[in-house]
Amino acid sequence: MQSSEIKRDQWGSKLGFILAAAGSAVGLGNLWKFPFLAGQNGGGAFVLVYFIILFVVGFTLMMAEITVGRYAQLNAIGAYRKIRESWAWAGSLGVLAGFLILSFYSVIGGWIISYLVKAASGSFNTADVQLLGGMFNEFISSAGMPIFYHGVFMLITLGIVMGGIQNGIEKYSKIMMPALFIIMVLVMIRSVTLDGAMEGVKFFLTPDFSKITGGVILSALGQVFFSLSLGMGCMITYGSYLSKDENIPQSSMIIPLIDTGVALLAGLAILPAVFAFGFSPNAGPGLLFITLPAVFSKMPMGSLVGVAFFILALFAAVTSSISLLEVCVSYVVDEWNWTRKKATLIISGMIFALGIPCSLSQGPWSHITLIKGKNILDSVDFIATNILLPLGGIILSIFVGWVWGLYKEQRIHKTEDGKTVITWDLAYTDAIKEITNDGKINFALAHVWVFLIKWVAPIAISIVFLQGIFA
Ligand code: TRP
Repeated sequence: MQSSEIKRDQWGSKLGFILAAAGSAVGLGNLWKFPFLAGQNGGGAFVLVYFIILFVVGFTLMMAEITVGRYAQLNAIGAYRKIRESWAWAGSLGVLAGFLILSFYSVIGGWIISYLVKAASGSFNTADVQLLGGMFNEFISSAGMPIFYHGVFMLITLGIVMGGIQNGIEKYSKIMMPALFIIMVLVMIRSVTLDGAMEGVKFFLTPDFSKITGGVILSALGQVFFSLSLGMGCMITYGSYLSKDENIPQSSMIIPLIDTGVALLAGLAILPAVFAFGFSPNAGPGLLFITLPAVFSKMPMGSLVGVAFFILALFAAVTSSISLLEVCVSYVVDEWNWTRKKATLIISGMIFALGIPCSLSQGPWSHITLIKGKNILDSVDFIATNILLPLGGIILSIFVGWVWGLYKEQRIHKTEDGKTVITWDLAYTDAIKEITNDGKINFALAHVWVFLIKWVAPIAISIVFLQGIFA
C-alpha cells in the first residue's frame, strides 16, 4: 500500500542532498575506525589498498544504490518491490540492518556526548594513559550514565528525523557538515604542526608494500563498505528523495570523495599527534577515547582542541545516525501509511530499548555472550556489519547487474559513405536510462560500471562476507 496521494518529500537542493548523503557516510567509521585501522595495518599501505577498493567497489555500489532509489522514489523495501515484486525481502534485510546498527551506534554516540561533557569540564586533564583507560572502562561499564547518554543521543536523532527531509535532515546536515569540515581542518593543522609530527605524517602517507597482506586487504574492503553507508539501502532511501534532473554519476563521485577526504583528514589529525607524543599508533579502538584525551592534555590549547574534536565527532555521528533511522522510518511511512511523527517516535523507542542491553553488555551484563563468545554489543555489531551489510551489497549488485537487467545490444549504423558498421552498445535498460535521465546526462563510463557491478562487486564483496563469517 503506497500513499501516492500524499506528496513525497524531496531534497530542497542538490547541495542539500550531497551534504546529507556525505553526512551519512562521514561518521564514527571515519573519525574513529579509519585512523585506528590505518594505525594497526601499516599506515600508508592500508590507505593505498583502501583507495584501490574505493575506486573499484565503492563508487560502483554508491551509484547502484542511488539509481535504484531515484528510479523507484521509494524506501529500500518498496524500491526492490517496485522493480521486481518478488525481491522485496532484499530490502527488509537492509531495514533490519539499519535497526540493529543504530541500536549500538547510538550507545557509542552516547559515549561521545559524555566525553564532550568531560572535555568541556576539563575532567581528563592527564596524559596518563593508564588512568584514562581506567576512567573509560569505569564509565562504559557503569549501568546508569551510558544508558542516559544513549537516550540523549537517540533524542537528538529522533528530533531531526521527525522534521522530515528538508526541514530536518537536510537543514541540519547543511549546518553540521561544513562546521565539521572547518573544525577538522583546525585540529589537523594543530596536529601536524606539533614537534615530531612529521613521523606520523610519513607513517600515514608512505605505503610500505611489504605490509600489504590478505588481512589488510580484507579489513580495507570492510571499511569501504561501512564508511560509505553501503549495503542496507541507506543510499537507496536518500536517492529516493532526489529529483529526476540531478546528475547521478556526478553525485556518486562526490559523496565517496568527501567521505574519503574526511577519513584522510581524521588520520592526519590523529596519527601525527599520537607520534609527536610518543604513543603507539596501534592502540586500536581505544585510540579515540583513551589515547586522544592524553594527546590533548599534552597539547598547547589542548582542552580547547579536545572540546572542538568531540563536538565534531558528535556532528559526524548524528548525521550518520539520522540516515540509519530514516531507512526504518521511510519504510513504515511509505508502506504502512503511518505519519512521520508516529513512525519516528515508535521506532526510536524500540531502538532505544534494544540499545539498553548493548550498553549493559559493557559492564553488568558482560558475562552474557551470544555469538562466538562475543558480548551483546559486539554480537549485534557482528550480525549487522559482518553479515547483513555484505549480504546486502552482494544482493544489490546481483539485483542491479543481473535481474534489473543491463545487456548489450547489437546496433547497425550506416556511415555517410554508405558503409555498414556494427557496434555493441549498452542497451537503454531501466538502470542506464535512470542514470542518464533518458540519455540527457553524459555517462561516459557506462561500460566500465556495468562490468564492475555485474562481476567485480559481487565477487569482491563475497570475499569479505566469507571472511566475516569464518574468520
Ligand atoms: N557510514 C557511517 C560511519 O562511517 C555509519 C553508517 C551510517 C552506516 N549509515 C550506514 C554504515 C549504513 C553502514 C550502513 O560511521
